[in-house]
Amino acid sequence: MSEIAVKLTNVSKEISGKQIIKDVSFEVYKGEVFGFLGPNGAGKTTTIRMMVGLMNITSGDIHIDGASIKTEYEKAVSHVGAIVENPEMYKFLTGYQNLLQYARMTPGITQERLNEVIELVGLTDRIKEKVKTYSLGMRQRLGIAQALLHKPKVLILDEPTNGLDPAGIREIRDYLRSLAREEEMAIVVSSHLLSEMELMCDRVGIIQHGELIDIQSIRDFIQDGVSSYQFSVSPIDRAQQIMVEADLSIELVDEALHVELEKDKVPEVVQMLVEENIAIYEVKEVTKTLEDKFLEKTSQKRGV
Ligand SMILES: Nc1ncnc2c1ncn2[C@@H]1O[C@H](COP(=O)(O)OP(=O)(O)OP(=O)(O)O)[C@@H](O)[C@H]1O
Ligand SMILES: [Mg+2]
Repeated sequence: MSEIAVKLTNVSKEISGKQIIKDVSFEVYKGEVFGFLGPNGAGKTTTIRMMVGLMNITSGDIHIDGASIKTEYEKAVSHVGAIVENPEMYKFLTGYQNLLQYARMTPGITQERLNEVIELVGLTDRIKEKVKTYSLGMRQRLGIAQALLHKPKVLILDEPTNGLDPAGIREIRDYLRSLAREEEMAIVVSSHLLSEMELMCDRVGIIQHGELIDIQSIRDFIQDGVSSYQFSVSPIDRAQQIMVEADLSIELVDEALHVELEKDKVPEVVQMLVEENIAIYEVKEVTKTLEDKFLEKTSQKRGV
């Protein structure tokens, strides 16, 4: 397995006696895009604020490239580039002037590096124009350029695609993927939309009510588990009863029964229904969207 770039170990956060983050542990590897996925209020921003050193950890620790954010704060945060809240840009200055402004406050950034990041985020043609003429996607890229100036090993972006249109989302997505691949950077992005994570991330960690409830590779997520089959049958009440008696997990959707099954169990169920003189009009697999799977996962954990 690749090298660990970020490691959270039993991280908890309490604010005014309220437990906001509970015992969160995960690792992010060099060269991967890790998605931090959860609904509004789940604790994504809070966790990210602790990862970039903007907020103290109540208990546990975070290591960035091996350095503890608690005991080696400066070393740890020196490896991090981040956009947490909307990056503050001066709209009446050009993109270039904005970067220069930032570079002056950060030791060790050369002219060469400035040009390099501008090229890297694809803003070379527009960098001498005022930021107020930029699209949201371009501003987002300028923010990323700023976060990259000091050559961080870890890039952390809180909801980087917020407010972008599909083309803008795609642009950021492709760009982050190539950064991870070509620069061997570890990238952490948060989002509340699984559909976005699907194409951008290698793995996702799902957070809910301050707890990390699951980590999966996107590939496994897509292939994961049992399917649902739609049975159009008559009489439906009787069919439902038979399936319940057979301990199947069913749901009535639009005058049909949706049954959770492994594929090779389908013939058995059909046979069972036929033996009970149930008329079968159609049996088809219902493909679940990732969103469905995600909701399933989170509701399981809630015990709904
Ligand atoms: N400074 C604070 N004081 C008290 N509660 C806070 C503070 N910061 C965050 N919280 C609470 O912690 C929880 C997690 O908030 P957080 O902003 O981390 O969620 P999030 O996952 O980023 O949500 P969103 O998708 O809306 O950005 C929320 O219930 C929030 O109200
Ligand atoms: Mg947030």
